[in-house]
Amino acid sequence: MSVFDVCSFILILIAVIFEYYYIYTFIKSKKGKYPPFVPTKKTVLNEINNTAAPFLSLQEHKNIVEPGCGDARILKMLADAYPLHSYIGYEWDYVPYFLARFKTRKYKNVKIERKNFMLADYTAVGLVVLFAGTEIAQDLSVKLKQDLPAGAIIISESFRLPNFNCIQEVGTGKKNRFFLEPKLYVYQA
Ligand SMILES: C[S@@+](CC[C@H](N)C(=O)[O-])C[C@H]1O[C@@H](n2cnc3c(N)ncnc32)[C@H](O)[C@@H]1O
Repeated sequence: MSVFDVCSFILILIAVIFEYYYIYTFIKSKKGKYPPFVPTKKTVLNEINNTAAPFLSLQEHKNIVEPGCGDARILKMLADAYPLHSYIGYEWDYVPYFLARFKTRKYKNVKIERKNFMLADYTAVGLVVLFAGTEIAQDLSVKLKQDLPAGAIIISESFRLPNFNCIQEVGTGKKNRFFLEPKLYVYQA
């Protein structure tokens, strides 16, 4: 077997794994209803940090939750900036879940759960950070309306939430992915 054969075999193996992963995520996403793993751009992270600052700078402990936390880049950034609070990320896809677990392994105040975020409990949450999708934003909005305590804040990247009054819109310029709305929407329960 030549080096060329070995390289070809490895490339084919990687292609097959990726293909199966994408088929798995497409089926899991109920044909696109639930968003796939598309991480927030690093340039938008600063805007999220600035927008969360007035709520997290206060010296009062809060539970911060991210439904569909991907590789936990947002939770990690917020936990670095505001270590007083507790952070929970829900992620059901194995690849981002293990990345998130690895990246936050040294953080005592960050918990990553492999769980469907529609089945989570949001009744003791002070801030929700969210980068979901048009369809799931509707369902999640109903769930958050039922669960969240009065005064809780939601920061939604690119997607509007029905059922809540928007208290702030923050432009993220031409920094967003694809053709998504370059905005953060802030809501108060
Ligand atoms: C658009 S990505 C955003 C990732 C991360 N929040 C960020 O901004 O970088 C959405 C994530 O939600 C996860 N997800 C979608 N539906 C979910 C569900 N019902 N429960 C848990 N995670 C879900 C996907 O696997 C994906 O990683």
